Amino acid sequence: MDIKEPLFLIGFMGAGKTSVGEKLAEICGCSVVDTDQEIERKMKMAIPQIFDKCGEGHFRRIESEVLVELSQEAVIITTGGGIILKEANRDVLKKGKTIFLQAHPQSIVERVGLDSGRPLIQNKSLEEVTYMYQTRLPYYLECASSVVDTTDLSIEEVAQTIL
Ligand code: S3P
Repeated sequence: MDIKEPLFLIGFMGAGKTSVGEKLAEICGCSVVDTDQEIERKMKMAIPQIFDKCGEGHFRRIESEVLVELSQEAVIITTGGGIILKEANRDVLKKGKTIFLQAHPQSIVERVGLDSGRPLIQNKSLEEVTYMYQTRLPYYLECASSVVDTTDLSIEEVAQTIL
């Protein structure tokens, strides 16, 4: 597959965006970049530390900057689950090809657990995570050019479905 514009992977935490992005890049022989990794590189801190020391507001500001920077290249861009929260970010996502990897909260929690180094779901109940997912769902759908339900699919199968 020849990528001529940015291909964004969006979805809730633990939906498999990073793994699918890496698999896609391997199959297509193209580059993949990840907003969270770029934020960590810029801030020289891991995500939980950034939330702890600088707060979510600061993280979100850097996230928006990084999204704009990375979207200048025709590459695969994997994103943090909250990228859709800001309208300006949604506008960037709507300009490219944006694939929403849909996974239901129950299967996400079974897959990654609630103690996976993700500050926003750490120590939360399944009900709280489900509520967060439901409030975000309209935003994922608003930005998506395509939706892939990943519930019963392997990483390879999700990548093949996107292709
Ligand atoms: C977040 C998701 C995380 C990371 C940060 C906030 C969110 O990325 O950006 O912890 O608000 O959903 P993953 O979706 O890769 O876990």
